[in-house]
This record gives sequence, structure tokens and C-alpha cells, in this order.
Amino acid sequence: MTSYSLVQRALHWLVALSLAALYLLGLWMTTRAGANLWDDQTNLLYGLHKALGATVLLMMVLRVFFKLRTPAPGYPASVAPAIAWTAKLMHALLYALLLAVPLLGWAGVTAYPALITISGYHLPPMPGVVQNETLAKQLFALHGLLAFTLGALVLCHIAAALVHLVFKRDGVFERMWPAK
Ligand code: HEM
Repeated sequence: MTSYSLVQRALHWLVALSLAALYLLGLWMTTRAGANLWDDQTNLLYGLHKALGATVLLMMVLRVFFKLRTPAPGYPASVAPAIAWTAKLMHALLYALLLAVPLLGWAGVTAYPALITISGYHLPPMPGVVQNETLAKQLFALHGLLAFTLGALVLCHIAAALVHLVFKRDGVFERMWPAK
């Protein structure tokens, strides 16, 4: 096997696009909240962020399922073993944060509670999380911190992918690209 499956490639790019939107929404809505602008627009931004974040969590559960079922394609011989192991470690960290960040957001909105998203739709409360505003604020602080850590790792991941595409030209980038 030389490439990721179509489902794995589709999920990868859907999560990537969703992440870009989640950072924009997250920074925009918290800036408005910081300026005490609690109007329909701010509520819509929060609602979209929560709905899209929950969708990313569902997509990540699917990605874990497919990752466990279908092993990743092997690297070409030109990739040194140390680089391959570093890439694997990086991917494991990305998966861990892509699960932890939305889980913390969900736990935070359960504790607050602020489960409403868009069109009046409420997320289910996270099982086992009690209502406690102090706890919610701690969960949101950790959510923000890990979201920025994830953002830094994603930038490294993009840089490494571009090195393969532009300088090494060894096909590693293409195996995750949607088109064949
Ligand atoms: C991978 C998914 C997610 C990413 C990358 C992400 C990213 C972010 C970012 C960058 C911020 C701004 C942090 C700051 O300015 O300090 C934020 C805030 C927030 N996120 Fe997320 N988020 C995700 C998923 C979720 C989910 C699933 C929920 C809830 C269901 C959620 C709820 C919130 C809330 C309520 C805030 C505002 C916290 C506050 O006011 O302190 N997020 N998120």
C-alpha cells in the first residue's frame, strides 16, 4: 500500500479545513467576549465554534477507527528511520491533541453550562461532568492552552509536508492528497 485510503484522505482534509475555521471562530468570539460584546453575532460565533468543534470530535473518532483498522503506508527508503519515528511521534501527538482539545471544550460547556449551538440545537452534556462555573473556567483555560499547542504542532506538520512536496519530491505528500 503506497497511499492512504480515500476515506482517510477525505477525513484528513475535512479536519484540516475545520481546524482553520475553528481558530478563526475561537479567536474572533473570545475577542468579542473580552470586549463585553454579547450580541447575536457573538452568540452565533460561539454556536458555530461549538457545533464545528463537536463535528471534529466525531471525525477524529472515525479517524482513530480507520487508523487502527488500516495501518499507515510505509515510508520510501529515502526517509531515514529517525525521521520516520519522529513523524510517527508527531502524528500520535496530533491525534491526542485533536481528541483532547474538543473533549475539553465539550467538558467546559457542560460544566458552565452553555450547551446551545446553532438553530436552538443543544449538545448532549458530557457524562460525569458536574455543573460548576469555576471548573468550567479552568477547563476553558486548558482548552485554549492546548488549542494553541495544537496550532504550533500543526504548523510544524505543514512545514514538514511542504519539505516533502517542494524539496524531497518523494511522494510522501501525494499519498495524503485527495486526488490521485
Ligand atoms: C479541535 C477542536 C477545537 C479547536 C482547535 C478549538 C480552538 C479554540 C480556540 C483557539 C479558542 C480560543 C482560546 C482563547 O482565545 O484563549 C477556543 C475557545 C473556546 N472553545 Fe474551542 N476549539 C475546539 C473545539 C471546541 C468544542 C468541541 C467546544 C464545545 C463544544 C469548544 C468550545 C469553546 C468555548 C466555549 C471557547 C471559549 C472559552 C472561553 O471563553 O474562555 N471548542 N477554542
